[in-house]
Amino acid sequence: MAKSYPTVSAEYQKDVEKAKRKLRALIAEKNCAPLMLRLAWHSAGTFDQGSKTGGPFGTMRYQAELAHGANNGLDIGVRLLEPIKEQFPNLTYADFYQLAGVVAVEVTGGPEIPFHPGREDKPEPPVEGRLPDATKGNDHLRQVFGVQMGLSDQDIVALSGAHTLGRCHKERSGFEGAWTTNPLTFDNSYFKELLSGEKEGLLQLPSDKALLSDPVFRPLVEKYAADEDAFFADYAEAHLKLSELGCMLLLVTGLLMPKRLTVVALPLVVFCMFRIRGGYME
Ligand code: HEM
Repeated sequence: MAKSYPTVSAEYQKDVEKAKRKLRALIAEKNCAPLMLRLAWHSAGTFDQGSKTGGPFGTMRYQAELAHGANNGLDIGVRLLEPIKEQFPNLTYADFYQLAGVVAVEVTGGPEIPFHPGREDKPEPPVEGRLPDATKGNDHLRQVFGVQMGLSDQDIVALSGAHTLGRCHKERSGFEGAWTTNPLTFDNSYFKELLSGEKEGLLQLPSDKALLSDPVFRPLVEKYAADEDAFFADYAEAHLKLSELGCMLLLVTGLLMPKRLTVVALPLVVFCMFRIRGGYME
């Protein structure tokens, strides 16, 4: 199945490229890659596939969403980004926050994640309580990532590897400490540390440790600890999905489907195109 993304103007695309350069500079200057990645993730991770609400649609700019308990500290990220956002009034906040997440991974040595612009800004923040609770285990992770967001078991483990960056701050989450000894480098050390057990000075959340006790999750933790390329490939795929939750994509029918199927699918595509708002379909 192929995806077709909304077309944005040449001017918009140019702004994306320019904003990317500014974001690289900001992140280098402020050492804020972890916070930018958490901001992008918390923006997208509220998506609920049942009600088709939440998701990466720029609502983190609202005080109401920043005030959610899980988002403690993200106001700092939003504030850091605002002077750059002001230079690009054309860009949606939705695209801009996701771009910041992609750049944060790239500049810390992680995989390149494709970025497709075209998200719209929505007016309503999601309800509180959709992001995962760090004190809970695997059933909870599958409920939030699988049932709510529509992501896979592999996505859960790969995305958990984002904790290779950054740390917990007592005043924000109640936890304190970094997962690795090099929290400004995106690599597979999160998985290596997880397997090697708890160490003084480093932290493992209950939700991190839970990955070790699951028959599907654990082999993936072991694979990523042994093979950074495999982690990067799966992480990039999972992050891309995360960053596009709720952005329904058109299927390219004509070229890829047998003629019989195209006859069925084409009216569906035309119907969907009428539902496009702000570039991405709802
Ligand atoms: C699996 C479920 C997850 C739980 C329970 C969880 C929980 C947490 C908690 C409690 C913190 C500490 C916040 C603070 O005190 O500053 C944190 C930080 C962080 N999380 Fe997660 N997280 C999860 C998944 C993810 C995902 C999927 C990503 C990105 C793709 C991510 C990226 C980050 C980053 C980069 C930080 C560091 C922020 C900083 O240093 O300021 N997390 N997470």
